[in-house]
Amino acid sequence: MRVALLILLGLAIGVVGTANVMSLLAQRNPMPTAIMHTMDYHMASLKQAVKAQHCDATQTARHLLRLQSTATDILPVFGIHEKNFVDFANRLQTHLQQATLANPASCAALATALRPINQTCDDCHRQYR
Ligand code: HEC
Repeated sequence: MRVALLILLGLAIGVVGTANVMSLLAQRNPMPTAIMHTMDYHMASLKQAVKAQHCDATQTARHLLRLQSTATDILPVFGIHEKNFVDFANRLQTHLQQATLANPASCAALATALRPINQTCDDCHRQYR
């Protein structure tokens, strides 16, 4: 009898514990990774265009604008106030702004514009990811 009760108690603790872990996981903010995946999609599209040597200026402009507007979400969503993190996020903004203004029409111009952007993604990841 005692053993059966102990087993039941163990099961109950297991169920409660699992429910707690599940709700903790659900509460985890999906936004930081959503932002990163959105930027990743647009960066990958641009890199693919360069690789295929098929750089449509209208598509390029669209991807760069999406990158630029998505990157403005980094600081408010991540809520990391360390100077280096803020610097990386601002640097990304600057490079994206410059790329958008440069409005690259050729694959060569696009490749040049992507270099400092890519570098900034990598720099921040090396320290914070
Ligand atoms: C200011 C810092 C910073 C910059 C700039 C930055 N990232 Fe990130 N990135 C992070 C951090 C921090 C994580 C880890 C997020 C996590 O796991 O919650 C991350 C994670 C990622 C991930 C993995 C997401 C996952 O599934 O966990 C991808 C993909 C990514 N970044 C793409 C990019 C691209 C593309 C750029 C440049 C256009 C970029 N990031 C610029 C900080 C940055």
